[in-house]
Amino acid sequence: MSFDAEKVRRDFPILHQEVHGRPLVYLDSAATSQKPQAVLDAVSRYYERDNANVHRAVYELAARATRDYENARATVASHLRATDPREIVFVRGATEAINLVAQAWGRSNVGEGDEILVTGMEHHSNIVPWQILCEEKGATLRVAPLDDAGDVILEEYEKLLSPRTRLVALVHVSNALGTVNPVEEMGALARDRGIPVLVDGAQALPHMEVDVQNLGVDFYAFSGHKAFAPMGIGALWARSEHLEAMPPWQGGGEMIASVSFEKSTWNDIPWKFEAGTPNVGGAVGLAAALEYLERVGLDAVAAWESELLAYGTEVLGEVPGLEMVGRARRKAGVLSFVLDFAHPHDVGTILDREGIAVRTGHHCAQPVMERYGVPATVRASLALYNSREDLDELARGLAVVREMFG
Ligand code: ALA
Repeated sequence: MSFDAEKVRRDFPILHQEVHGRPLVYLDSAATSQKPQAVLDAVSRYYERDNANVHRAVYELAARATRDYENARATVASHLRATDPREIVFVRGATEAINLVAQAWGRSNVGEGDEILVTGMEHHSNIVPWQILCEEKGATLRVAPLDDAGDVILEEYEKLLSPRTRLVALVHVSNALGTVNPVEEMGALARDRGIPVLVDGAQALPHMEVDVQNLGVDFYAFSGHKAFAPMGIGALWARSEHLEAMPPWQGGGEMIASVSFEKSTWNDIPWKFEAGTPNVGGAVGLAAALEYLERVGLDAVAAWESELLAYGTEVLGEVPGLEMVGRARRKAGVLSFVLDFAHPHDVGTILDREGIAVRTGHHCAQPVMERYGVPATVRASLALYNSREDLDELARGLAVVREMFG
């Protein structure tokens, strides 16, 4: 499918503005993506016409809101190629999805002396929930090391899969390095040993086709806001046998079958894990975002971003004193770098004055910074609405930085 970059760009109203007197160049989609008109329209339509609480009342609006919410679940399931919408639990985002698994699955499956294996490139969201669990249970967090380019050293990963490993939790695409992990291969090595696998897909879903059947994993977590949907909505996909066996993690409305002071019983999956009034408008926006991505075409998006990444790598390679952090074999649209003439925070501030939005700092991945011996990086991250001109602008902005600091 061919990709019409100009047309895609027109779908995102926020991009067409000036910042500090210059046209906005948005290069921070790994932090959050911008939203196409189709998503903005779907969310306002929901609030203009259908808004009510779900699964509760018999009146028309409540029926429509419930239908919208459950249709959104079916859209997410079909996007991920899940076999059953009951395998989709709506959450606030990837962080909450991972915490859900750590609490609901982890508490009943991890004990003293057990191990959880992560990789050295995890976001804090895929480290800290496991540390909390390990501390509570007397278990140990193990870490598969990275090579200098930013790939997991697979032989070391395999050696760390021990009879005590209860779960592998790994990121699909690293937010700090852009590395695309060989999830199928790493997952198969774990599953051959009977070890379940959780994947943090927050940075993968906006950029490539994700097929949970082909990946062969057990849990897949993602955030809507990085995938062109509103903030505060995301989903956990989990094999139904895990969800059936897991106890609830939060108590309240929606997740119960019956309540008495003596004993309460739980709703069916997935509602057992959705305590309280859910984010229905967010779910509607998420479904609209995934439908938008499918209309544009996931293969076309992946091909366009890979072209941009190659172009960006070339353009930045010509900037004197720039060192790329993250040169993995397979990368998604993340250009993380340091300059030998300016601190990342100064770079970010000067680029902002030029209308260019990048993220600077440790990107919620402090162990990655430590591994590569840098306190912070400048990170330009791409999405389907970026263009070659955006990357030329970044190079121009870095030349301005050089004039001031070089
Ligand atoms: N995890 C987000 C990022 O990488 C916030 O910027």
